[in-house]
Amino acid sequence: MMKQRLNQLPLHTYDTWSSMIANNLFQQSVWKQAKTIGITISVGKEINTRTIIERAWLEGKNVAVPQTKWKSREMRFRLFSDYDQLEKVKFDLYEPKESLTSCIDHEEIDLLIVPGLCFDENGYRLGYGGGFYDRFLANFNSYTISLAFPFQYLRWLPRDKYDLQIHMLITPTKVIKYE
Ligand SMILES: Nc1ncnc2c1ncn2[C@@H]1O[C@H](COP(=O)(O)OP(=O)(O)OP(=O)(O)O)[C@@H](O)[C@H]1O
Ligand SMILES: [Mg+2]
Repeated sequence: MMKQRLNQLPLHTYDTWSSMIANNLFQQSVWKQAKTIGITISVGKEINTRTIIERAWLEGKNVAVPQTKWKSREMRFRLFSDYDQLEKVKFDLYEPKESLTSCIDHEEIDLLIVPGLCFDENGYRLGYGGGFYDRFLANFNSYTISLAFPFQYLRWLPRDKYDLQIHMLITPTKVIKYE
């Protein structure tokens, strides 16, 4: 249902909301202080992360994107500085080219932008079902922020024992800190 709502989002609303969310993110002190951010390349009607990546580069931050290991459902983050250093893998997903990017340790990431389909009032998240982020977050101690359009913010989501909370949720009009 949420994927369908995303698909139906008119382009002008998508653009307006994406830039409001990005501007809210840029105001946060964790953003300002972060030297290295982890983020994904947005696909379809996912909140546009390209403007966020470009702003990070402009501010002199390092930007890392995940490389996924499908068999073990693990991710490694690799630094990139140009979209040419990425290649299309599956489902329109872009990943770093191994020869042109360098792997970083998860401890080097100061701020991780965690993707998801919807989020609840307790900071729980419904992802795309791979468990990649839940596995990664289990060993991650830095700050996590998710970005959501208003309809992706719900009162309550079912959760299982592996689901982990994020620290902050940013919508076009709200910044929610879970602590
Ligand atoms: N830390 C973990 N260790 C082992 N299995 C895990 C872990 N985290 C998640 N899983 C398993 O992975 C599968 C997918 O998890 P889930 O449905 O929560 O995915 P998701 O949260 O939508 O995906 P993602 O985390 O990539 O956004 C589930 O069977 C879940 O139990
Ligand atoms: Mg999960």
